[in-house]
Amino acid sequence: MRRVRAGGLLSIFLLYPGMGMGKLTERVVTQVNWAPCDPNFVFANAPVDCAFFQIPLDYQDVSAGIGRLSLIKVNATGQRKGTLFVNPGGPGESGVSYLAFSAPDILNTTGGNYDIVSWDPRGVGIDTVPNEILCLNRSDYTAFFNGTIEQTGIQWGGNFTDPMDIAALDAQAPVMEEKYKQLGQKCMDAASGTTLKYIGTAANARDMAALADALDGLGSPVNYWGISYGTLLGAWFVNMFPDRVGHVILDGVVNILDTAQKQSFLSWGDKIHDADKVFQGFTTACALAGPSVCNVTSEGWSGTDVMHLFDSMIDAAHAAEVKNGWVPVPSNSLRSALFTVMYEPVLWQSYAGEFARLFKTVQTEWAPPTNTSIQSRSKSRRQSVPQDGVSFAEAAIYCADGIDSDGTTMSGLFDYIVNVTRTVSPLIGATWPIDAFYCSFWPARAVERYTGPFNKTLGNKVLVIGNTADPITPFRQAKQLADLMGSSATLIRQNGFGHASLAQRSSCVTNVIQAYLNNDTLPEDDCTMCEVDDDDELFTGVTTREVIAQLDFS
Ligand SMILES: *[C@@H]1O[C@H](CO)[C@@H](O)[C@H](O)[C@H]1NC(C)=O
Ligand SMILES: *[C@@H]1O[C@H](CO)[C@@H](O)[C@H](O)[C@H]1NC(C)=O
Ligand SMILES: *[C@@H]1O[C@H](CO)[C@@H](O)[C@H](O)[C@H]1NC(C)=O
Ligand SMILES: *[C@@H]1O[C@H](CO)[C@@H](O)[C@H](O)[C@H]1NC(C)=O
Ligand SMILES: *[C@@H]1O[C@H](CO)[C@@H](O)[C@H](O)[C@H]1NC(C)=O
Ligand SMILES: *[C@@H]1O[C@H](CO)[C@@H](O)[C@H](O)[C@H]1NC(C)=O
Ligand SMILES: *[C@@H]1O[C@H](CO)[C@@H](O)[C@H](O)[C@H]1NC(C)=O
Ligand SMILES: *[C@@H]1O[C@H](CO)[C@@H](O)[C@H](O)[C@H]1NC(C)=O
Ligand SMILES: *[C@@H]1O[C@H](CO)[C@@H](O)[C@H](O)[C@H]1NC(C)=O
Ligand SMILES: *[C@@H]1O[C@H](CO)[C@@H](O)[C@H](O)[C@H]1NC(C)=O
Repeated sequence: MRRVRAGGLLSIFLLYPGMGMGKLTERVVTQVNWAPCDPNFVFANAPVDCAFFQIPLDYQDVSAGIGRLSLIKVNATGQRKGTLFVNPGGPGESGVSYLAFSAPDILNTTGGNYDIVSWDPRGVGIDTVPNEILCLNRSDYTAFFNGTIEQTGIQWGGNFTDPMDIAALDAQAPVMEEKYKQLGQKCMDAASGTTLKYIGTAANARDMAALADALDGLGSPVNYWGISYGTLLGAWFVNMFPDRVGHVILDGVVNILDTAQKQSFLSWGDKIHDADKVFQGFTTACALAGPSVCNVTSEGWSGTDVMHLFDSMIDAAHAAEVKNGWVPVPSNSLRSALFTVMYEPVLWQSYAGEFARLFKTVQTEWAPPTNTSIQSRSKSRRQSVPQDGVSFAEAAIYCADGIDSDGTTMSGLFDYIVNVTRTVSPLIGATWPIDAFYCSFWPARAVERYTGPFNKTLGNKVLVIGNTADPITPFRQAKQLADLMGSSATLIRQNGFGHASLAQRSSCVTNVIQAYLNNDTLPEDDCTMCEVDDDDELFTGVTTREVIAQLDFS
């Protein structure tokens, strides 16, 4: 749990023409009183200040009341040119925790000429109001979803074609449909129910504009680095406020059109389009490193051999769980650990050792089990949630932005993910739960959603970054957005692995970012390719360049 201590709230009410609606709108502009963050609650790697910022719950209806954002700032180390806002994604990640942790990296990458500011968006953390979306406590949650795939995950072998696997999943369809509808009702009935419609990305974009008004002056250009879901915020922001585009970086791009046009769950296959490419990179790098460095390969093995070892271990774990009902290392722990690893190449070498140990257990799973634990990042990343609560912040934001439900059934959703598993990613295609899967059954939508156009003429050019092999925001989505934005965007590609550009170090990308932020210059080419630095090795002695040379990623 992280808390901020901050100066009091002080607000000034201004009247000015708002939102191009042709009428005077009362708008709250809050003065920000920074104070040192409480070190007991904000564990920072750099000197940081914290504050609160007052917001209207509904920018179109002041009678809805007020809320507040919890803010964090790290001062520019060089000559200050303004504020650079950062959103780390999720949606629903705590910007406060993220910046507290990543400030040195971000200052370094940006060159130090901007104050870096982040915030816990509406629905996130315990200090922002509306705060974390907690629909039921831990014990109720456990009992409510007892015996369902919400707790066990979906189990499948091979390409999800075994009739027994399909039958086991189908049996869950009526159960899960009912559970998700009831969950929605619980979320409406909980304290957060009345505010579900005030969270979401359009309001978040208006909050960022209001923050820039307060920190850099009314109507000032907004500088922003959006990572992952933060690119949706960025793409909405620049099109909602085209005149206020300062320096905007969209890094690890989500499918902007999917959000505006499709039931939320239907974007899953697009998101993981390149996940198996990253897996190929991992296994190839492991084989190149050899058994003295990567503990899951053997002398003389190719990347394909390593891949087959993973496939056979996952299938062995699955066969054992079908036979025994319970095993210490279930197939989907292996899958979710792999998915986690795909995000962060920096973990590859240490996780190879972890997998080698797990495989030893899998090989004994036909025998009576002994317990082993596996670390998975998926559910434990945000630290701003009360310990006994189960957060639905990600789902709530995701669904707030999504198009209306259209009568999708759970069995329709299951058919979709089985098809995605067969056609896109046999490895992680049927990962469960995923935030987008709640939306067809979710009871609320945001009071404002932005659905386009996404090609407005912008006050300044935007920098779009995609990685060659990103497990959750494939390069083609960055390309799609850059194409949509036309001459308002410059696309660059980091020729490496992992989620968004900070996953690996590329001096080339850092130089592009710094030239853009500090010197207003962008590459002239349409799609500049940046290599990852050779000294940022995937395994000891193995560079990204060597691995990519062995793969056909055209
Ligand atoms: C940041 O800069 C402000 C204004 O110069 C200063 O008052 C504050 O103490 C600085 N904060 C930190 C954490 O260094
Ligand atoms: C910034 O990163 C570069 C490359 O890793 C490193 O050499 C340099 O020391 C870093 N600078 C700071 C101030 O951390
Ligand atoms: C969880 O919430 C229920 C009400 O929904 C309550 O009865 C129960 O005491 C709570 N449990 C804990 C551990 O807080
Ligand atoms: C879950 O269900 C099983 C039987 O179906 C029961 O034994 C167990 O107590 C339940 N656990 C919880 C936390 O409700
Ligand atoms: C499973 O899918 C992969 C990739 O889509 C394909 O290469 C493989 O042949 C399929 N295997 C089977 C048994 O269908
Ligand atoms: C790899 O295996 C060796 C020998 O079993 C062990 O000493 C080493 O710690 C392992 N490496 C990792 C990263 O786990
Ligand atoms: C292992 O853990 C599971 C679930 O926590 C438990 O049901 C089982 O009894 C444990 N088995 C052993 C051998 O400790
Ligand atoms: C299965 O997915 C593929 C693309 O991944 C798509 O082309 C196809 O139409 C889908 N099939 C069904 C039955 O939905
Ligand atoms: C934006 O895209 C639409 C649809 O593709 C197109 O009709 C329109 O001309 C574009 N506008 C600009 C400013 O490029
Ligand atoms: C800064 O911009 C000027 C032109 O505006 C350009 O000539 C110069 O190379 C740029 N410097 C860097 C470091 O990008």
